[in-house]
This record gives sequence, structure tokens and C-alpha cells, in this order.
Amino acid sequence: MFKGKSLTLTCLLVMLMPSVADAATPIIEGERFHGVPGQHAMVVTSHTLASRVGHDILRDGGNAVDAAVAIGFALAVVQPRSGNIGGGGFMVISDEASGDVTSIDYRETAPAGAFETMFQDDEGNVVEAASRYSANASGVPGTVSGMAMALERYGSMSLDRVMAPAIRLARDGFTIPARFADGLNDSREQLEKNDGTQRLFYKADGSDWRAGEVFQQGELAATLERIAQNGPREFYEGETADHLIDTIKAHGGIMTHEDLKNYRAIERAPVHGTYRGYDVYAMAPPSSGGVHIVQILNMLENDDLTGTGFGSAASMHLMSEAMRRAYADRSKYLGDPDFFEVPVKALTSKDYARELRAQISLEKATPSEAIGPGNLTPYESNETTHYSVADDSGLAVSNTYTLNFSYGSGIAVDGAGFLLNNEMDDFSAKPGVPNAFGLIGGEANAVEPGKRMLSSMTPTIVKRDGKNFLITGSPGGSRIITTTLEVISNVIDHGMNVQSAVSAPRFHDQWLPDELRIEDGFSPDTVRLLEGMGHNVVQKSAMGASQSILINEEGFQGGADPRRETSSALGL
Ligand code: DON
Repeated sequence: MFKGKSLTLTCLLVMLMPSVADAATPIIEGERFHGVPGQHAMVVTSHTLASRVGHDILRDGGNAVDAAVAIGFALAVVQPRSGNIGGGGFMVISDEASGDVTSIDYRETAPAGAFETMFQDDEGNVVEAASRYSANASGVPGTVSGMAMALERYGSMSLDRVMAPAIRLARDGFTIPARFADGLNDSREQLEKNDGTQRLFYKADGSDWRAGEVFQQGELAATLERIAQNGPREFYEGETADHLIDTIKAHGGIMTHEDLKNYRAIERAPVHGTYRGYDVYAMAPPSSGGVHIVQILNMLENDDLTGTGFGSAASMHLMSEAMRRAYADRSKYLGDPDFFEVPVKALTSKDYARELRAQISLEKATPSEAIGPGNLTPYESNETTHYSVADDSGLAVSNTYTLNFSYGSGIAVDGAGFLLNNEMDDFSAKPGVPNAFGLIGGEANAVEPGKRMLSSMTPTIVKRDGKNFLITGSPGGSRIITTTLEVISNVIDHGMNVQSAVSAPRFHDQWLPDELRIEDGFSPDTVRLLEGMGHNVVQKSAMGASQSILINEEGFQGGADPRRETSSALGL
């Protein structure tokens, strides 16, 4: 794989003012939405302060991986509902110079004491609270290991250099935006059940948070400082590990020191596919994202989506029919590849996509009950946050990481100042019983000791003629795959600029439940036509938050998703 290197900013000595967009950009002449321009590099994250951290690292000579790792730690401070060191995720890294695209799997793992029926009661009923809000809801966290691996293999700066901004933000505090205040105020009932969480995240006088107040995290600052000084093993074998296991024990959980000690991030080859001449690289299992993005794109490739147009009933029908077939396969064939043979080649083959496409009528929806996981010919497979970084040395990073729900299990590590994930809910607690995102699974995604739970996270890099072209991904649980798919299609099929592509209304079909979920913004005519074809169209809240970058002859263009009021693109 490729070597780490520093960013070759041509104008390093000139302190360039960043081009900035926080949330929605204004409508100026010509186009309705405009990406944020950058000549040398671009950072797009879900939080203004995290984007600033990444920007400053790039300005100071760091490369895109240095910036991505700094952002990962900064988001753990300024956006504790999803930014984390107590969770996990996936990072896709592309190096244009060598042509290599790689990925780091830092997904959580089930503790050694985990077992298949651990979230069922004596009668075999699934106990949701156990997989979502207990100490056993947490998988062994991977973020610190993953960030350190990315930095060591592909970064150019030291760990304490890239962690310094996060430590400062935790120690000195930062001014909170409305989204931060509302998030904590609205989650009071759940989070205050745990004394440690209550103490860390709420005021002593019990009053609500208000935008503009300052939030400090002394315990978290100390934890980050220990990691910066002693390296990632501090988290897995040092004082931080002691605090973590003490908290787990106090809440009756099964995770042990041994589980932490044994945790390792894994570098994996990403899934690769092609779409209308573009190369698509996305996360391989244990995420389902890459497999299904490629599978759906393959099903769409021979239809003229440009001709049928964005937001038309014809385009939405075809895409949703392709989506539901992919999600049906997900329920059977996807899981941790170290435990279950995932038929990646078969699922992502053009031949299989042709077979599935042939089942789709252009006039009529297929009810989901008439669809099941396909028969494969044997070939051999609430709140998360996504950010994208790219630099002019040709490095690009697409990273999605999470605690699963907003604030994860709601249990904070006493003495270490961070929240634990509730990622164990992403396993299939029982075949056929949906998880929090309505996804079902079976044997491939059953709980097993040391196994990684199936994810939908889809950090993706699209290349054109060997050059990084689109860096994208999103949060949104089961909606991550379709959100990312639609950003890609909006750019490639509908010629949108990156800001239009991330702002455009979205739709989603995940096979079960049998509904075509849409955001606000599609015309009533389109909805009527879709209903006439047999789709159960349901309008629900906004989906995803795709922080994306497009790179072309004109330079870098950042698209910050207006669905998050703190989204921010910064160009250099
Ligand atoms: O890995 C997954 O697919 C889920 N744990 C992601 C959760 C998520 O995106 C929540 N957010 N919006």
C-alpha cells in the first residue's frame, strides 16, 4: 500500500483565507446551490469546529489523513452524540499517485462472552432495551485503534499533534450551537438514567442547555491527553481501559480487559465496481454499504436515468425497485466476513444485476412480500457522522463513524468522560426480528464472540480516469446506502454540482417494511404516479447528512448537507 506523505500545498507560505459555507449556501446566479470552492484542499464535516480543525491541519502542512484523524478526535469532543472514541466506523482512503485505494475497518466487535440469544428472554422474545441501553449494548470500541492505524500508515504528523486541537476544545470548552443544546435537552429522560452521564452532560442546577453557552469536558481532555502521550494502547490496556471496564462492570456488562486488549482495527480492500465509466470504491463487509451501492448501481447502469430525470416517478420507481432487491439480499448474505462467507463477487457482479433488473417492471411495483433474497450462483459474499477530506497531493479520505444511536447506549465511562456505543443492536438479535432501523437478518449477522456486527455505513470514493472525483457518504442507519447512492446518481446521471447533489430531496426503499419513504420536496404528481404503480409512498423526516467533495478541473468543491445546521465546508 502507499506511503504517508505531507501535503504539497503550492502556496503554503501564503495564509489563505478559507472559503467557507456553514449549512445551506445562498442561491446565487445561474445555479440554485453552490459548492464551496477550494484550490488546494477541502474539508466537509457535520460541525463547523471540526471542519476548522481539519482545515488548520491542512494549512499547517498535514495531509488529508492527518486532517481526517484530527477531525475524528475533534468530533468526539464537539459532537458527542455521534463523534466518538467509544464507538467505531470505517475509513476509505484513496491515493491518486499510486492508484491504491484502501480502507480501515474499525468496527466494534462483540465481547468474547457474547452469545447468539443474549438479547432474548427465556421465552425467546427479543428484549430491545438490552441491545440498546444496557452495558451489553456496547461492542468493543474501535475508533482509537482505527484512527491510530490510519495515521501511522498514511499520515505524516504525530498522534499528539493531530490530537492537540481536540484536547484544547475539551479542556477549554467551546460555544455550543442550538443543535448541541437541543440534542442534550431532548435526550434528558434517557441519559439521566445513568449518574455518570448525568454528571458529565448536564448542569448541576438541572437547567436546560442554551445555544451560546460554553461546554467543557475535563475528564475527556485528560483521557485524550493520555492517548496522545502514550499511544492507542492506552485506550485498550491503560488507565482508560480500567475506567471503561469498571463502568461496564458497575452496569452488569460482560466486556472484559481481555476483550479490549484483543481489539484490532483491520485494513481491508474496499469493494470496487464501475458505473457508466466511473470507478466506485466503497466499504467492504462487515459493512453492507459497498456491496449494495455497487449492486444497485449495476442494476441501474443500463437504463437512461438522465433521460427520465431527477425526481420523476419513472426514475424513482426504477431506483426503489433496485433498492428493495438489494436490501432483501442484505438480510441473508451480509455479515462479518471473518465469520461468514459473504458472496461479494456474486452480489456485485454485472450478470447478477442483469438478472435482478430483468425482474423489474417499469410499470408496476413488486410488493416486497413477493421478493426474497436472490439465489446466487456460487462465485467463491439516529446519529452517525460522515466527513470527507481531500488534498492536492491526491489523497482523499471518506470516513463514517458512530455510536449507533445519538449518544449510543447513554452510558458514559466514569472517570474517562466519553459515551459508549450501542452497536450490538446492529446484530440480528433473532432471525426475522427487525433492529432499530427496521433491518432484519439471520445467521450471517447473528451474535458471536469476537464478531463485528453488520453495518450500513458507506464511506465511498468515486474516481474518474484514475483521479479522485467524488468523496461521499452519510449517516442515517439503513438509509445510508440509498443516500450515498443518490448523491452519486445526482452527480453522474443528473449533472448536479456537489451542493445540489447533497441538498436534493431523497427517497428510500429497504424492502421491509414495504414502503417508499420520501423526504419533503417531491411533487404531488410524482407521488400520485408512484402510488398508481403500487408503491406505498410515505413522507417522513429528512434522511442522512452527506458531507461530500467533488474534484474537477476547476479544483475542489465542498457540499455541506443543509439537513444539519452545523454542517460546514472549508476550502483552502
Ligand atoms: O452501522 C450502522 O449501519 C449503524 N450503526 C449506523 C447508525 C446510524 O447511522 C445512526 N444515524 N443516523
